[in-house]
Amino acid sequence: MNNRKPVSIVVAGGGSTFTPGIIMMLLNHQDRMPIRQIKFYDNDYDRQKQVADACEILLKERAPEITFVSTTDPETAFTDVDFVMAHIRVGKYAMREKDEKIPLKYGVVGQETCGPGGIAYGMRSIGGVIELIDFMEKYSPDAWMLNYSNPAAIVAEATRKLRPNSRIINICDMPVGIEYRMAEILGLESRKDFVVRYYGLNHFGWWTDIRDHDGNDLMPQLKDYVQKHGYVTPNELANKHSEDVEASWMHTFEKAKEVAVLDPDTLPNTYLKYYFYSQDEFALADPDYTRANEVMDHREKIVFTECNRIVAEGTAVDTTFTADDHASYIVDLATALAYNTHERMLLIVENDGAIENFDSTAMVEVPCIVTSNGPERICQGKIPQFQKGMMEQQVSVEKLVVEAWEEGSYQKLWQALTLSKMVPNGRVAKQILDDLIEANKEYWPELR
Ligand code: NAD
Ligand code: G6P
Ligand code: MN
Repeated sequence: MNNRKPVSIVVAGGGSTFTPGIIMMLLNHQDRMPIRQIKFYDNDYDRQKQVADACEILLKERAPEITFVSTTDPETAFTDVDFVMAHIRVGKYAMREKDEKIPLKYGVVGQETCGPGGIAYGMRSIGGVIELIDFMEKYSPDAWMLNYSNPAAIVAEATRKLRPNSRIINICDMPVGIEYRMAEILGLESRKDFVVRYYGLNHFGWWTDIRDHDGNDLMPQLKDYVQKHGYVTPNELANKHSEDVEASWMHTFEKAKEVAVLDPDTLPNTYLKYYFYSQDEFALADPDYTRANEVMDHREKIVFTECNRIVAEGTAVDTTFTADDHASYIVDLATALAYNTHERMLLIVENDGAIENFDSTAMVEVPCIVTSNGPERICQGKIPQFQKGMMEQQVSVEKLVVEAWEEGSYQKLWQALTLSKMVPNGRVAKQILDDLIEANKEYWPELR
C-alpha cells in the first residue's frame, strides 16, 4: 500500500460536532489512505474556528506532514481536493430543535430525519448541499463528494434530479452501527466477517441475508436474538456497557424487536420504528426537551469544551477525543474510489433496476461494489408487497419535497406532509406546514 498517492480532503461543515472524531479516525487509517492536506470549510466562521484551532494543534503534534487550512472562502476550500467530506447541518441545532418540537404540538412525532421534522430539514439542506456540489465542480471537477449531511434520502433525491451528473455519493452510518451490534451478538470480531444483502430507502430498509465468508447463513441466529432483544447487545443486557450509550438510543435498539416481528423474514433498520409505531414514539416524547436538547447539552458541549481546552493549553497530547472508528466506512469508500479496492458497501444510489419491482428513479439504499469509476449496484431482486407498499409511500414523500423545493410549491409540500405515514390527515399536515414555514423563513424557498 506504500505507493498509494496521498489525498487532499476538504471537510465541509468543519464546525461539526463529528469533525474531531473523524480527523482522529482519518489519522488512524493513514496506512490505507495517506493524506497530504486537510481543509475545513464552514459558513459559520466562529463555530468552525473553535474546532479548527484545536484540530490544527492536534494535527501538528500527530501528523506534521499534513498541510492544514481552515477557511470560509469556497475557492480556497474547494481548490486542489480529491474528496469533499460533507456533513453540514443547515440551520444548526437551533433549527433541529424546531423540527422536533413543532410536530409534537400537533400530536405528531418530531424527528431529525423522519416525518415532518425530516421534511423541514430537507427543505433547508437541499440548497446547502447543491451549493457545495457547485463549488466542487467549479474548483475541483474531478473530486468526489462523500455526503452524509442529512436528511440523506431527500438530499440524494434532490442531487439526482437537480445535479444528475455530479460526483456525489450519499452514505449513512446507521446500517454500519447496527452491523457492529450484529457482530457483537454473533460473537464475531468485526462486521467485515460477514457479507449482507439489504434493500430500502435511507433510514428505511431491511437486511435479507447475512452470511460469513464460508457461506454459512447467520440470519436464523440473528433473527432469533433480535426478535427477543432488538439490537441490545448481550453485554448491554448484562448491564456491562450501557453507560456508553445514551438512554434514548438504548430505547431505539430495544424497540427494534417490535419492528422485527412484523416481518420475520428480514431484519429491520432501527428508524422504521418511527413509521410502524409512531404513536409510541410520540407518547414517549417530552415536548420541552427533545433529542436536539440532549445533543446540545451533551455532545456539543463536550466537543466544544474539549476544543477550547486544547487551544488554551496549546497541546492535544492528552486529549479526550477518540477516533470515531465507526466512521471508518468513510475511508472504505474513499479508498475504493481513490485506489480501486472494489469494496462492497451499502450506499444510497439511483435504483435503476437494483430492486426489480420498484421505481427505477428512486434513490435506494443497496449494496454496491465501489471502484474508481464509482459505485456499481448489486441486484436485490423483487421485494415483497409489505415493504414495497411502505417504500412507495415514503419515496413519494421524498420526491414531493424535492418538487416542492424546486417549484416553490406549497401544494406539493402539503401533499408530502399528508402522505407521510406519521401525519394523521391533511388538516394536521396543513397546521404543521404553516408553523414550519414561519420557523424556516430564513432557509426555505418562498412557497406559493
Ligand atoms: P453540527 O451543527 O454540529 O455541524 C454542522 C456544521 O455545518 C456547522 O458547523 C454549521 O455551521 C455548518 N453549516 C451549516 N450550513 C452550512 C452551509 N450551507 N455551508 C457550510 N457549512 C454549513 O451538526 P452535527 O450534529 O455534527 O451533524 C452534521 C451533519 O451530519 C448533519 O447533517 C447530521 O444529520 C449528519 N450526520 C449524518 C449521518 C449519516 O448517517 N448520514 C451520521 C451522523 C451525522
Ligand atoms: C445515526 C444516523 C444519522 C443521524 C444520527 C443522529 O447515526 O445514521 O443519520 O444523524 O444517528 O444522531 P444524534 O446523536 O445526532 O441524535
Ligand atoms: Mn443516517
